[in-house]
Amino acid sequence: MTPFTAEPEPLAMRRCIGRFLTGVAVVTADDGQEQAGMTINSLTSISLDPPIVMISLNFDTRTGDAIETSDRYALSILSSKQEAVARQFASRGGERFADGSFDTTPSGLPVIRDALSQLDCRVVEKHTIGDHRVFFGQVEHCRDRDGSGLSFNAGRFGAFKDFGHEPVRGTREDMR
Ligand SMILES: Cc1cc2nc3c(=O)[nH]c(=O)nc-3n(C[C@H](O)[C@H](O)[C@H](O)COP(=O)(O)O)c2cc1C
Repeated sequence: MTPFTAEPEPLAMRRCIGRFLTGVAVVTADDGQEQAGMTINSLTSISLDPPIVMISLNFDTRTGDAIETSDRYALSILSSKQEAVARQFASRGGERFADGSFDTTPSGLPVIRDALSQLDCRVVEKHTIGDHRVFFGQVEHCRDRDGSGLSFNAGRFGAFKDFGHEPVRGTREDMR
């Protein structure tokens, strides 16, 4: 364990918080001129009824600008077979929608085909906090499939592997 760092710089903060293992999603938006999309792991489920999710995007992202303009976004929760998609949508520059297969949400946004879940969201609240913009989205449509999720931990991608124990009560598996 390292010593405690007081008032951590971005690098120390990224290293410490990056040890929180997350899933990986792609958020997509359209400002009416062009499609934008980026890889995120800041996706959090906020409320089930009404269904609200939250994402946090760095201030200088094109996708954040497109969401600001359109007040809509779509989410694709990636499977463990989609590391290449996660890398493609995190790269600076380059045409992100050139290769790959996409579906379209009921609101008309592109989503990643073969993702584990696809959600169509309307922004209901937004905040600027620190160097990020936080968008709360009401989920208007969603669908999913079975499969193992892509994981991200300490800067590396991996796959979630369960212990084979009983599902936890109150989880999605339990509600089937
Ligand atoms: C696994 C992973 C998770 C990421 N999560 C976020 C995130 O939650 N918020 C964010 O602003 N950037 C995140 N990024 C970085 C963006 O994907 C990256 O900066 C992207 O190029 C921004 O695209 P844009 O400016 O074209 O919209 C993440 C990158 C990776 C690889």
